[in-house]
Amino acid sequence: MKNRRNILVTGGCGFIGANFVRLLVTACKTWRVINLDKLTYAGNLNNLVGIEEGESYRFVKGDICDKELVEQLFREENIDTVVHFAAESHVDRSITGPADFIQTNIVGTFTLLEAARKSWMAEESGVNNPCFLHVSTDEVYGSLGETGFFTEETPFDPRSPYSASKASSDHLASAYFHTYELPVRITNCSNNYGPYQFPEKLIPLIFNNALHGKPLPVYGDGKNVRDWLFVQDHCEAIVEVIKKGSNGHCYNIGGNNEKQNLDVVTVVCDLLDGKVGLLESGNPRSSLITYVKDRLGHDRRYAIDATKISSKLGWQPKMTFEQGIEKTIDWYLANQSWVEDIVNGAYQNYYENMYKD
Ligand code: NAD
Ligand code: DAU
Repeated sequence: MKNRRNILVTGGCGFIGANFVRLLVTACKTWRVINLDKLTYAGNLNNLVGIEEGESYRFVKGDICDKELVEQLFREENIDTVVHFAAESHVDRSITGPADFIQTNIVGTFTLLEAARKSWMAEESGVNNPCFLHVSTDEVYGSLGETGFFTEETPFDPRSPYSASKASSDHLASAYFHTYELPVRITNCSNNYGPYQFPEKLIPLIFNNALHGKPLPVYGDGKNVRDWLFVQDHCEAIVEVIKKGSNGHCYNIGGNNEKQNLDVVTVVCDLLDGKVGLLESGNPRSSLITYVKDRLGHDRRYAIDATKISSKLGWQPKMTFEQGIEKTIDWYLANQSWVEDIVNGAYQNYYENMYKD
């Protein structure tokens, strides 16, 4: 069938991966999606409730570092496209325990690149128009001062074990293009927010604590800046890169929504006050803001210049921050059991330990 793709999505049970799988099975109906996910603490089958296995979707529980399994999937499913999300993704965890980041983000990416090379570069390979899209982050570029933007030419300067592991995997992916002509494309995206984000990340964490009248931990002076993008806009950008992007190219993806953390926290509080009322004390939820010890090596500011993807591929974010954050808060309010299942499970110990001293 023309336009048919057999696409291996890694990490499809995580935040962005699940939103991406949902987009593909509804908007790209001729594509068969194979979701390979290890179901770490961040992987959640509840993120894909309603997506049935069948001709267009298959779930495989497994590790991207498992060479035999990955090679078997390439053969069995005749994979022609890889969208590689699977990673350890939380900066704080990379500071307290970097080993898993090295294993999954570097060794896992290497394992996938090797499997693609073996499968696609063999003489007898009849695979049509293959594409390996490596999903990466703006954090590889380091930290900005008060002005300026990250472009695709900005030199890498990763400063946390997480961003260093992602930068390593970007370099590996890029090296496979230059050395073996593997059809690699890389995307470097800014902070995502939206449905199904694990509640260790700023926005869902603040939502949950503010809803329940708990302290809202703001690191340092709260003036660090992130550039926020609604997750569905990110997923649509990835589809554009698969359809229209060029091999060997990187594309920065961002929402042009720079905000200080304190402002983000305040917006979440104000929206909740408006939707569910003030705290029992009569105080606004922003009164729960508590300044805590800063993250080690905390990058000060990220801001993406997304001119390349907009001018070359015609992608633009559809959602403003104001629309996206309201949609997000409405989703979390309507899906409180999704959050509670996580915060009352193993994650509870992690969170309590973080604030022990
Ligand atoms: P996430 O932590 O929510 O999900 C990661 C998923 O990967 C989980 O389902 C987990 O089970 C799976 N996984 C982890 N290790 C695995 C392994 N060894 N084998 C198979 N599966 C494994 O992450 P996310 O926030 O959805 O991020 C997805 C990707 O996007 C990551 O590569 C991240 O670096 C990148 N990214 C994230 C953001 C963001 O704001 N969240 C921004 C830019 C780029
Ligand atoms: O920029 C893209 C990156 O965005 C992705 O590559 C990462 O996978 C993703 O986790 C995210 O990283 P951040 O570290 O920016 O996201 P996080 O939600 O952890 O933190 C956002 C900002 O909020 C950051 O400056 C730290 C601050 N923060 C975070 C938490 C969890 C707080 O002030 N308090 C908190 O409790």
